[in-house]
Amino acid sequence: MKILVTGGTGFIGSHTAVELQEQGFDVVIVDNLSNSTIEVLDNITKITGKRPVFEQFDLCDQSLTADFFRRHNDLAGIIHFAAYKAVGESVEKPLMYYRNNLQSLMNILEGMLANNINNLVFSSSCTVYGQPDELPVREESPIKEAFSPYGNTKQISEEIIRDTLKANPQLQAIALRYFNPIGAHPSALIGELPLGVPNNLMPFITQTAIGKRPVLRVFGNDYNTPDGTAIRDYIHVVDLAQAHVVALNRMIEKKMKKNYEIFNLGTGNGLTVLEVIHSFEKVSGVKLNYVFVDRRPGDVEKVWADTTFANQELGWKAQRSVDEMTLSAWRWELRLAGKLND
Ligand code: UFG
Repeated sequence: MKILVTGGTGFIGSHTAVELQEQGFDVVIVDNLSNSTIEVLDNITKITGKRPVFEQFDLCDQSLTADFFRRHNDLAGIIHFAAYKAVGESVEKPLMYYRNNLQSLMNILEGMLANNINNLVFSSSCTVYGQPDELPVREESPIKEAFSPYGNTKQISEEIIRDTLKANPQLQAIALRYFNPIGAHPSALIGELPLGVPNNLMPFITQTAIGKRPVLRVFGNDYNTPDGTAIRDYIHVVDLAQAHVVALNRMIEKKMKKNYEIFNLGTGNGLTVLEVIHSFEKVSGVKLNYVFVDRRPGDVEKVWADTTFANQELGWKAQRSVDEMTLSAWRWELRLAGKLND
């Protein structure tokens, strides 16, 4: 069965392409390589022994996308990752974010409708909850005003999908709201590859440890948490990737309760920034150079997932510990630096 993975050379997309191929799916990747490199394709091939079909173009281009779908009208499903995702950049360039993230989704939905392709997994984010009133956060928790244009594109995307499905009940979609994906494939052949200075915690930790950055700034140690640093629900990217395959199979096997379902993907366990740092120091044996600085504007204090619905309905549960997350991220950084000996 053939599956389209948009953004399939990106961080989560590449890990999902691996899991799909390992479970016997044929993967077609579409990526414009705006935030990834073609070598990722070679490494997916090394891990799985099979090279995904690859097409490089921008899904915001309506005619190229329509043409793609005409040529691939036998797709059993689509997993749509391709999107911009930097919160700070979205505040500077909101129109760029709205155009890119919404236009591509609409082109894909049009391609699905025109070619009777009915199954979509959409890459959403816990950012849609903002700072929730109640923790852990459940799928029914209210959607608050978005903290950033990026977050708003995820809220609007979910609504675009909802309305399109109402008008076209033959379509099925599952939106997966990710918490904080970190880590890398155990082979250390694929991982997170931020361009320039990383925004996110885990790549900043590993780049500081390897010497690419002088110091990690920990944003805020005066939060109302046990050690004063902010709490997130970090989830291993391989656990996350596997959840996509489960969601896809649920659609293909017609096991959905309604044609649009939404799941939280986290571990259900919140960790402070210092807990992640301590795990990293333990598994790597590297003493990390970090300093406390002011809170980062726009950061929420704490958020972690209620995973009951995903656990029960999908029959999926995140398996990997924080130490596996930080160790795999470190091995990936070591491999990038040519320092991985195993
Ligand atoms: N942090 C630091 N120093 C850094 C980077 C991050 O202390 O250099 C802290 C942050 O303040 C936060 C935690 O580490 O407390 C995690 O920060 P990330 O940037 O890794 O992740 P966020 O939770 O801010 O963002 C993630 C996704 C976004 C998504 C958001 C929703 O990256 O795409 O969750 O909450 F919008």
